[in-house]
Amino acid sequence: MSGEKPLTSILSAQAGRGSEPNPSFCVSGERKGPALKEWKGKGRLFVVAVDGPAASGKGTLARRLAERFGLAVLDTGSLYRATARLVLDENGDPADPVTAEAAAKHVDLRLLDDPRLRADSVARAASVVAAIPEVRRELLGAQRNFAAHPPAPARGAVLDGRDVGTVVCPQADVKLFITAKIEARAARRVKELREQGAPAIYENVLQDLNERDARDSGRGAAPLKAADDAHVIDTTMLDADEVFERVCRLVAHALEEKEWQQ
Ligand code: C5P
Repeated sequence: MSGEKPLTSILSAQAGRGSEPNPSFCVSGERKGPALKEWKGKGRLFVVAVDGPAASGKGTLARRLAERFGLAVLDTGSLYRATARLVLDENGDPADPVTAEAAAKHVDLRLLDDPRLRADSVARAASVVAAIPEVRRELLGAQRNFAAHPPAPARGAVLDGRDVGTVVCPQADVKLFITAKIEARAARRVKELREQGAPAIYENVLQDLNERDARDSGRGAAPLKAADDAHVIDTTMLDADEVFERVCRLVAHALEEKEWQQ
């Protein structure tokens, strides 16, 4: 990584720069959907939890929902990626709880747009630090705070991750669990990587997803699983637009109900 600044220095250089739009954390500028404009709910915020395994399409879905309904969006996985990146920058061991917890303390929500967080090596290390309870505890407050105080003008938030509906926001108004067969997820990931010009070998991607699935579902702390009251949507045979329209109907319905309850 010679010539590149470590993430720690990027973190301090960017602090105070304000919240520029970034894919991990932003308020949707464009309010396309009628539902939020019509929502007269005062005081109570509207929260959508989008959980699911890696490469299930939940991140894209979360961003589209935020844009449609004028909500803020947080990709909670980027917090674990930022933690992992800090550990790797210091040549630390992502499995070491003391190092990983110290890194988690330095993660700041405004600073999650570093493109290096998207690297597969960082994703792998993220799923290792994410199994450490101290790291999860450290990152929990920032996620809950985002849901409770989404940046203006948003009147609510969409958070995507693994444990949003079960641990971070168990009171979320809509809980979605987006999944797909691992072969379909691997094929989509390969296509995405190749479109970005990156070389991608299907078998390697498949193995990588298998390992991350096993770590995310098998850990003791906040394992990947659908909340009992989540809408589970298997997207193996669905295209992204179909999923989006189906989910928009669920969210619009929940918004109407919430307004009714105010
Ligand atoms: O969603 P993404 O692939 O960016 O997440 C990276 C890793 O962070 C996941 O493999 C998972 O181990 C961890 N994660 C988590 N809980 C979340 C979000 C992500 O454990 N809410």
